[in-house]
Amino acid sequence: MIYTPSTLTEKIDEAIAKLPLKTEPQTLFEPIKYILSLGGKRLRPVLTLMATNLFSNDIKQTMEAALAIEVFHNFSLLHDDLMDRSELRRGQKTVHKKWNDNVAILSGDAMLIEAYKLIAKVPQNLLPEILELFSQTALEVCEGQQFDMDFETRLNVTEAEYLNMIRLKTAVLLACGLKIGAIIAKVPEPDADLLYQFGINIGLAFQLKDDLLDVYGDPKTFGKKIGGDILCNKKTYLLIKALKNSRGKQKTELLGWITASDFDPESKINAVKKIYNELNLGKITQNLIENYYLAALDCLSGIEVGDDKKKELFSLAENLMYREK
Ligand code: IPE
Ligand code: IPE
Ligand code: MG
Ligand code: MG
Ligand code: MG
Repeated sequence: MIYTPSTLTEKIDEAIAKLPLKTEPQTLFEPIKYILSLGGKRLRPVLTLMATNLFSNDIKQTMEAALAIEVFHNFSLLHDDLMDRSELRRGQKTVHKKWNDNVAILSGDAMLIEAYKLIAKVPQNLLPEILELFSQTALEVCEGQQFDMDFETRLNVTEAEYLNMIRLKTAVLLACGLKIGAIIAKVPEPDADLLYQFGINIGLAFQLKDDLLDVYGDPKTFGKKIGGDILCNKKTYLLIKALKNSRGKQKTELLGWITASDFDPESKINAVKKIYNELNLGKITQNLIENYYLAALDCLSGIEVGDDKKKELFSLAENLMYREK
């Protein structure tokens, strides 16, 4: 049988609630329980289970790997929010705001260790291959995160550099989860690799959409502060395009805001957003998202399994493109 994403999300939520976490010191473990209980879309573990489910009815064998991916993702959020100075996550205070910076660092570290404890529980004959992929991916996420930070202070970041950065910080984790799901289902390597490429393409689309929602989203639905990327001078696709496409007075104004050290946050957000609007960057970004979505569909089509089995993955990918949260 093929499970729907919402059934899988429920199963993951249940399993996360049952994770055996210690209690003392509370300032180490409470933030872990806090971030994991705030939910989120559970996209990565859902994809991991769906990859197994494409080829097998036995999704239980993949649950620990799926949880490992989600715990790793939540660890990366603790550190990411500290690095990005973000105050809101999933509609609630971020861990470094609710507690403090040191708590976000150490609880994050502990979550990374918990993620490794979970991944170590995959079928033992598959562990070397899965551990290698998981570790390679974890390191790539760090690489992507550092590029993201380095780019804040650069003005000449190219579109190619941006795409490589988001592949590393975001897309590889989705792809890794999908491939691990396939490995556990003992799928032939070409199919496992197509699932990995499917994950890269929806991952690129996913981060582009995240950048778009950071400007145009509804804060209540999105659960994060709108305009956060603009305040940090994040080299999002929108800002890179704006730097490239703006001319004359508009370009001078944009550069003025990016290089200003003392400014009113809301005025900066509104002014940069106005330039994005003038340059039609919302539409241009959504078009690129749709291109990656189409590339993802090609990968999925190439997998040697009946279309009836792929239906849920196709519709999940489509829903991601038009997501508002
Ligand atoms: C946030 O990921 C970090 C990005 C890679 C954009 P999600 O948007 O999947 O966050 P949750 O887990 O649903 O809250
Ligand atoms: C996050 O990118 C990628 C990782 C957490 C590794 P962002 O910094 O854009 O994610 P959000 O918008 O804070 O969720
Ligand atoms: Mg962030
Ligand atoms: Mg970030
Ligand atoms: Mg973001």
